[in-house]
Amino acid sequence: MSQSIQSVRGMNDILPGESESWEVFEQTARAWLKSYGYRPIRLPIVEPTPLFTRAIGEVTDIVEKEMYSFEDSLNGERLTLRPEGTAGCVRAVIQHNLAAQRPQRLYYMGPMFRHERPQKGRYRQFSQVGVEAFGFAGPDIDAELILMGARLWSDLGLEGVRLELNSLGQPGERANYRAELVAYFGKYADSLDEDSRRRLRTNPLRILDSKNPAMRELIAGAPKLTAHLGAGSMAHFEGVQQVLRDVGLAYEINPRLVRGLDYYNLTVFEWVTDRLGAQGTVCAGGRYDGLVEQLGGKPMPACGFAMGVERLVALMRESGDDPEPDAMDVYLVHQGDAASRLAPRVAESLRDAGIGVLFHCGGGSFKSQMKKADASGAAFAVIIGDDEAGAGEVTLKALRAEGNEQKRVGLDRVADEIMNAFFDGDDA
Ligand code: HAM
Repeated sequence: MSQSIQSVRGMNDILPGESESWEVFEQTARAWLKSYGYRPIRLPIVEPTPLFTRAIGEVTDIVEKEMYSFEDSLNGERLTLRPEGTAGCVRAVIQHNLAAQRPQRLYYMGPMFRHERPQKGRYRQFSQVGVEAFGFAGPDIDAELILMGARLWSDLGLEGVRLELNSLGQPGERANYRAELVAYFGKYADSLDEDSRRRLRTNPLRILDSKNPAMRELIAGAPKLTAHLGAGSMAHFEGVQQVLRDVGLAYEINPRLVRGLDYYNLTVFEWVTDRLGAQGTVCAGGRYDGLVEQLGGKPMPACGFAMGVERLVALMRESGDDPEPDAMDVYLVHQGDAASRLAPRVAESLRDAGIGVLFHCGGGSFKSQMKKADASGAAFAVIIGDDEAGAGEVTLKALRAEGNEQKRVGLDRVADEIMNAFFDGDDA
């Protein structure tokens, strides 16, 4: 026997039983996005590598070590499986001149790829729903995006997802802060772990994001960016908070929230839960006013977020029962030559009437087919033998009603009988 092939590490199959929860999530998310006026955009999974190096930043974990990049064997072009959706969305907005006339509210759903060390809640292929708004400069859209998150958690029945908020100011303000931070951590260079020592040279703000408990005290004592924010940045940050307070949405300002991608300015936020272990950030985003210009477009303010679907589905499944797969309406049993020629037509005509039919395939005795009908969870068996076929009728048997009533019904009446029984059942 040859050896079976396994899926790639960190890239998972989502099997029936769990996949129904994904569908509930996706349906809820689509309705929620619509209710805020966001429109779908479908983007390629593969993009030119420089898109990500330019957008996300050369010295970020994603670009330095997590991208699945390869050379197109035909023309040598460097390509990358998208590690996130914002860069591709910005590319599309520029390429199609999308936000030139009016602001755009867009969303996308789909797989992203990062070569991280797999663990619970962290995968190499994972799925995001991303939301991006282009052409809005004021704090009102930042607040809208944050309020959207809160509503989705409530639509999904999730509790205990808390909001962390920070402002990264503008690039100039951050440069001053960076210098102060380098001076501070430089004084303690001997106490820094290896990662932080490297970041001190390349991306010192990211030291604040270190998860190493040994670094906690040092980070707590570090200077704060808020002290470097100018009046404009402060007003924007205050504007976002004002809306959240007016609506009554609780938040916590986390001065160490810096994000792992370089394109952000002003507002950044994360939605976090303690119920998923180490990978508790279910949604994250912020403003990225410089990115459109940086990728070759006309300057345009922008703001957005993305959520991790695996983490949210895990949270849904932890908080409630898995949704039952929809039970079928009818199991169609048939035996005999004439019956088996009639059966597909009957099944299709029931489906024409909007009735779900599980069609028995593979033959077998009436008895064995009826066992399968019972086990299927269907509400009715439609039974066709040569006797029924000859008379232009079927036998309709209620599988879940008491007494398992059955009767003969003319072909033209089957759909109506079933529909009536469903409606009567609703009244009961
Ligand atoms: P991000 O923080 O890199 O931001 O990812 C957003 C969310 O995707 C995370 O909070 C997490 O829930 C999920 N996620 C990320 N990596 C993994 C992984 N390896 N396994 C499972 N889930 C993961 C972005 O991607 C930005 N593009 C968000 C954004 C949109 N900012 C502005 N617009």
